[in-house]
Amino acid sequence: MHKTPRKAVFPVAGLGTRFLPATKAVPKEMLTVVDKPVIQYAVDEAVEAGIEHFVFVTGRGKGAIEDHFDLAYELEATLKARGKTAEIEMLKPTRPAAGAASFVRQQEPLGLGHAVWCARDIVGDEPFLLALPDMLIHAPRGCFAQMMDVYKAHGGNVIAVEEVPHEHVNRYGVVALDEKFDDRTARITGMVEKPRIEDAPSNLIISGRYILQPEIFAKLETQKPGAGGEIQLTDAMIALMAEQNFFSYTFEGTTYDCGDKIGFLSANFALALDREDIAAKFRPVAEALLKR
Ligand code: UTP
Repeated sequence: MHKTPRKAVFPVAGLGTRFLPATKAVPKEMLTVVDKPVIQYAVDEAVEAGIEHFVFVTGRGKGAIEDHFDLAYELEATLKARGKTAEIEMLKPTRPAAGAASFVRQQEPLGLGHAVWCARDIVGDEPFLLALPDMLIHAPRGCFAQMMDVYKAHGGNVIAVEEVPHEHVNRYGVVALDEKFDDRTARITGMVEKPRIEDAPSNLIISGRYILQPEIFAKLETQKPGAGGEIQLTDAMIALMAEQNFFSYTFEGTTYDCGDKIGFLSANFALALDREDIAAKFRPVAEALLKR
């Protein structure tokens, strides 16, 4: 029996420079896809996977994220006074239970690895989920729920991967695999962050969802800055691979990188077309726009 992860970590301390000026005063994780902030999609995915505690690694100027996951007391009182019960009901699932959300500050954006390390005391000695919230994964069944099945079968560390065109591999962390357990699951034998195209071991990239063992924190603690001068999670995972199993899982679903303008616009477009309450009105508008 493998210890079931109960906590999920969401690093949200990045500067979001690719989205300036929108992200000058609004965290990029609060940008809206249809009618929910990007971060809410990742949290909902963790809820679907049975997660009980949500750890946000925040930074200065990210207060809107804390407010979003809090009780909006004045708003709810006003809605109640106006008899807007449907709207009050809509807010309820956005809020973790009392005491089920923690916020820890990464004082300087020193990289994803450093952000994860900042969650070490709150996570403690337990396996945990890690989501990069700007990677929005649209899937019939949440990516984390799918990954939990792999974890239950194999334990260890599980990393969601997806195929990209070979000429794009230099933008991502890339995995090398050997033994395949089924069409979607394999053992990882190597990883490299942002390789040169000719050096990449595959075209399978690490796509922002992880199940990790707590020993990763000790590796992060001693990790020197890597690619881009940042403390890289991939480097710490490579160090941990010498001691523990890592499995790749090719999830069912589509990823939209909402930290990037094209990915963000695509997410809005695709999710609007998939929403029963919006699609009928949006489709003709979208089609007309495309003919311009
Ligand atoms: P990104 O590299 O996509 O975020 O990190 P960024 O640095 O905010 O984006 P740009 O390139 O400037 O536009 C992936 C995730 O890791 C978090 C980010 O908030 C994002 O959710 N992150 C990144 C941190 O929490 N701390 C860091 O030091 C770096």
